[in-house]
Amino acid sequence: MGRLIIFLSLLVCASIVHSKVAERHEIRKFPEGFLFGTATASYQVEGAWNLDGKTENIWDHLTHTKPCKILDCSNGDIADDSYHQYKRDVEMMRELGLDYYRFSLSWARILPTGFPDQINQAGVDYYNNLINEMLKYNIEPMITLYHWDLPQKLQTLGGWANPNIVDWFGDFAKISYELFGDRVKYWITINEPYQICNNGYGDGSKAPLLEYSGIADYMCAKNLLMAHARAYHIYDKEYRTEDGEIFIAFSAQWYEPESEEHEEAARDLNQFMWAQYVHPIFSKTGDFPPIMKERVAEKSREQGFARSRLVEFTPEEIEYVRGTSDVFGLNHYSTLLSYRNESLNSRFAVPSLNDDVGAATYQLSEWKIGESEKVMTVPWGFYKLLTQIREDYDNPPVYITENGFATYGGLDDDHRVEYYRGYLSAMLDAMDEGSDIRAYTAWSLLDNFEWRYGYTERFGLYEVDYESPERTRTPRKSAYVYKELVRTRALDLHYEPDMSKPLTIDEGH
Ligand code: BGC
Repeated sequence: MGRLIIFLSLLVCASIVHSKVAERHEIRKFPEGFLFGTATASYQVEGAWNLDGKTENIWDHLTHTKPCKILDCSNGDIADDSYHQYKRDVEMMRELGLDYYRFSLSWARILPTGFPDQINQAGVDYYNNLINEMLKYNIEPMITLYHWDLPQKLQTLGGWANPNIVDWFGDFAKISYELFGDRVKYWITINEPYQICNNGYGDGSKAPLLEYSGIADYMCAKNLLMAHARAYHIYDKEYRTEDGEIFIAFSAQWYEPESEEHEEAARDLNQFMWAQYVHPIFSKTGDFPPIMKERVAEKSREQGFARSRLVEFTPEEIEYVRGTSDVFGLNHYSTLLSYRNESLNSRFAVPSLNDDVGAATYQLSEWKIGESEKVMTVPWGFYKLLTQIREDYDNPPVYITENGFATYGGLDDDHRVEYYRGYLSAMLDAMDEGSDIRAYTAWSLLDNFEWRYGYTERFGLYEVDYESPERTRTPRKSAYVYKELVRTRALDLHYEPDMSKPLTIDEGH
């Protein structure tokens, strides 16, 4: 009964938000200077996994040693073959009229040993070609230094659980600035700390598949924040250009309390799941969120540990990390309902991050549009998250560095269009109330290797035909709609593209 009432009230709340949006502005303008882009990541699109001097990374290793840990037992050996098809990728960026394109560097392609003793010129050439091709058409490169594909050699040394990674990552960052910094003004140090540490070293759902939650994920968290800060300081001191920007991209879902009595549970989830990484950089005091420090210290004591499992920062380290992001990079996909229910906590391993949080989550089947279970459509959660960021961190400039929807194939992706419209409307609502959001990045330019889901889930504005040798790319309906958004710099909820016409490059692109 309780759940039914919650559900009905959420439904009413959602429809009010939705109708508010629909009736208020049919066409909503974006502010002057607002930027639009799309994103990808090296392992997900490049292929050429062992060509021209590139060595193995942790995703090569995972997919080759345990292929069926991936839903369709696939891998990124060829992926979208962007290594060879990059000119077509840039052509697509031009068709869409993008301001920028976000892509990542494959560490093992540039530094085959993981260290700066050898620089692989063929790998450098590939990125130079891509960057130069984009710049020819005024598309700004936005480089992510690390999007999950650590050189396997560094993993054998412990990867992100080894504090020496602060040096290793700093060296890689420095070489990247040296190589590409003359032409690249947007730098993202690390994509999604939570996924790297808590999926990679905690719940075993991403490479390197370590299941050591409550211990290794916390070791990773501190090392990763220190490594990010190292990369930031090197840029800031030695490579910063007049209009250069360097920042980190967090992933944050919104955790909504199931009801008033569960507000604390939602607060704790928001603190553990994303503020864990945001607070050390964006809060006035720095360091991990106080509630997280308290809960983990207390549980660790009860469990007989000699010190908190959350590896602490020294006061100098707190200062080293604080303030190290020029803008707030935000990847957001969906929302979860949260509740405190101690009896349910027994389903979590002890110790573990989930047990430390002491709260559980679920989503409503009514949030599902289309087939995707992965991305439930809850635009008001995006609005609430943006509002919270504005309030908690003194309204930082925000770049939405990812937002997108999964389908399972087909060019008529009306549900993706519906998702984008809902989320862009919610973002505009937050901007109307003062949120300083300056850029929006659709994930993704094209279908790609979706990690543990292989090629089963498609996030692309362009469909990729994995049967064809050149991995033919074809625009979906969402590509037409996104192009119109970028062209008009406005969101028209009723725009219907004519898909019988090809998506061509407009003059000036
Ligand atoms: C990641 C992407 C991924 C996307 C969709 C994000 O967490 O950064 O690499 O493809 O979500 O699942």
